[in-house]
Amino acid sequence: MISTIETERLILREILPADKTEMFVLDSDPEVHKYLGNMPVKDIDQVREVIQFIRQQYIHNEIGRFAIIEKSSNEFIGWCGLKLFKETVNNHTDFYDLGYRLIKKHWEKGYATEASKAWLNHAFETMNLNEVYAMTDTRNLNSKKVLEKLGFSFVEKFDFMGDESDWFKITKK
Ligand SMILES: CC(C)(COP(=O)(O)OP(=O)(O)OC[C@H]1O[C@@H](n2cnc3c(N)ncnc32)[C@H](O)[C@@H]1OP(=O)(O)O)[C@@H](O)C(=O)NCCC(=O)NCCS
Repeated sequence: MISTIETERLILREILPADKTEMFVLDSDPEVHKYLGNMPVKDIDQVREVIQFIRQQYIHNEIGRFAIIEKSSNEFIGWCGLKLFKETVNNHTDFYDLGYRLIKKHWEKGYATEASKAWLNHAFETMNLNEVYAMTDTRNLNSKKVLEKLGFSFVEKFDFMGDESDWFKITKK
């Protein structure tokens, strides 16, 4: 598995158990979870489990979401990356999904787009994938804007665990 990706303003690296405090700030915020099923975490043990779950994916899938570190402050500001979905979602199985989640104070700085561009480059140039998918709650305009800036195309609406969602795809050029 790749160890780090560097962009102009960011370092992308594995999420570590030591990131739990910042992950708690991220995942306990109701605004961050507004379009993620509205279930912000309540205690740090839940975050420990999430980190372990992601780290298991690094081992079994050789990929998973990575922490985003802001170079200027050396702070954990959220995560971004590719996840291999082995289960079936919207009639797709074994597909790579791009995702991102930032601590609220780091929204509106272009960081989600910058990190995602680096991941797409990795997907197409290093992993040699032909396509990457993304999904978002239909109401999540911030997320849809990121996908459109990255060059994803809207494919269709589908039901994801009871919420109307949008299914996006980007193909290797
Ligand atoms: C989705 C989410 C990551 C989007 O974050 P974001 O900060 O809005 O996205 P971007 O990184 O694209 O930054 C957007 C804005 O930063 C601004 N910006 C400021 N400085 C910038 C710079 N140097 N470069 C680029 N953009 C910059 C831009 O104006 C841009 O807005 P625009 O596209 O309208 O011009 C964020 O809203 C989030 O974490 N939401 C909660 C979790 C979530 O819903 N995740 C997605 C699930 S599908």
